[in-house]
Amino acid sequence: MTDHADLLGFPADFRWGAATSAYQIEGAAADGGRKPSIWDTFARTPGKVAGGETGDIAVEHYKRFPEDVALMAELGLRAYRFSLSWARLQPDGRGPANPEGVAFYRRLLETLSEHGIEPVATLYHWDLPQALEDNGGWLNRDTAYAFAEYAALAHECLGDLVQTWVTVNEPWCAAFLGYSSGVHAPGKQDPPGALRAAHHLLLAHGLANQRIKAGPHPARVGLAPNFYPVDPLTDSVADAGAAHLIDLLQNRLFLEPVMKGYYADDIRKHVEQVCGTEHIRPGDEAIIGEPIEFVGVNYYSVYRVSAGTATGEPTSWPGAEDVEFHRYGTRTTHIGWDVAPDGLLRTLERIGDEYPDLPIYITENGAAYDDVAGEDGRVDDFDRVEFLRDHFAAVHEALQRGVDVRGYFLWSLLDNFEWAEGYRMRFGIVHVDYATQRRTRKASADYYAEVIRANGVRR
Ligand code: NOJ
Repeated sequence: MTDHADLLGFPADFRWGAATSAYQIEGAAADGGRKPSIWDTFARTPGKVAGGETGDIAVEHYKRFPEDVALMAELGLRAYRFSLSWARLQPDGRGPANPEGVAFYRRLLETLSEHGIEPVATLYHWDLPQALEDNGGWLNRDTAYAFAEYAALAHECLGDLVQTWVTVNEPWCAAFLGYSSGVHAPGKQDPPGALRAAHHLLLAHGLANQRIKAGPHPARVGLAPNFYPVDPLTDSVADAGAAHLIDLLQNRLFLEPVMKGYYADDIRKHVEQVCGTEHIRPGDEAIIGEPIEFVGVNYYSVYRVSAGTATGEPTSWPGAEDVEFHRYGTRTTHIGWDVAPDGLLRTLERIGDEYPDLPIYITENGAAYDDVAGEDGRVDDFDRVEFLRDHFAAVHEALQRGVDVRGYFLWSLLDNFEWAEGYRMRFGIVHVDYATQRRTRKASADYYAEVIRANGVRR
């Protein structure tokens, strides 16, 4: 890692990458034997997604992937994180692999390999096969076992082409947006159920980890929770309590049991109060605690919280419905999230302090801005360039302080379907004209290519 007068240098083998997920980019929702997932059902339900938009077409990555991989190569990406659509590989969530689904991902992986781009595959980026939701989804413990079968099958069919596996992406969102506030699929509002879903997602991670390790190909396995530093609004005892609870639910619940092999007393007590602990069976914590080879950090922003009053409506915080959220700084992105590169440094340092032997990949970081494209599709997104530069500098600082950060995956390569926000929130460094599917590099893509080429950030 060499720093020059004007360059913050990164380690020679640092994985500069970009990330996407299946439902957000693939489209081809009914092609190649794919069956509906909970996101197909949810998006097609009026009122659930802004503008009534769906991922039916998305950015047609299913057929345009050669062009997209060529684009990655042009940018100089060393790595690419994508997700497998469970409903494409195993349309009913159980049973044999769908050959067309396997063939698609093998073609994608082979194309990446031809371009020397290292793949990272996510098994679960929120698109549960609808057939499993009809059986209770993540409220049903059986789903964790179905997930383990799916992970084994994916690893068997694709593991010769991909060695790095992320089991579950942002389990906080899958459990609490999906089953507590209902802002995401499957749209349930059942806060106690959401905490049970969280356990089943962790169990799913642990079982999948075991099955992949027992499989025929060498593999590194991790999961990718989303982390937010949490600050209390004031130094009152009540606000400290609110911050403790939000930190517990956001940052600790989805990593601590994996690293320690048990739920800490305060976590167990919270779960006990909200939904009881019968769903946590003897032996589960040991499965959850099977060693992982890395943690994926999805980082976007920070929280500032205070003790408040519950409205009686379900929120995304089971058992912490009375906590209020406040602005952190003065700058926000288009989606309204506080811009806080210092929060990335804090997150990396905290994980580095707590688990010094655990390699870290930043599996997502990026920003939505109100991009305006010229006639030629070009976007001069200098706000995103600044956002990226400040976050790269934070990663550099973490490396300087000895944190073992191995790579950075920018969210996202392309503009895409931003869940309940639909297509209006653009996170890409490459602009997509949704009418023509034309891809055009934004200024931020040129900037990122330069950072990768220099293997460092200009001050
Ligand atoms: C987290 C999710 O993993 C991804 O799917 C989403 O688009 C980005 N963050 C931005 O919200």
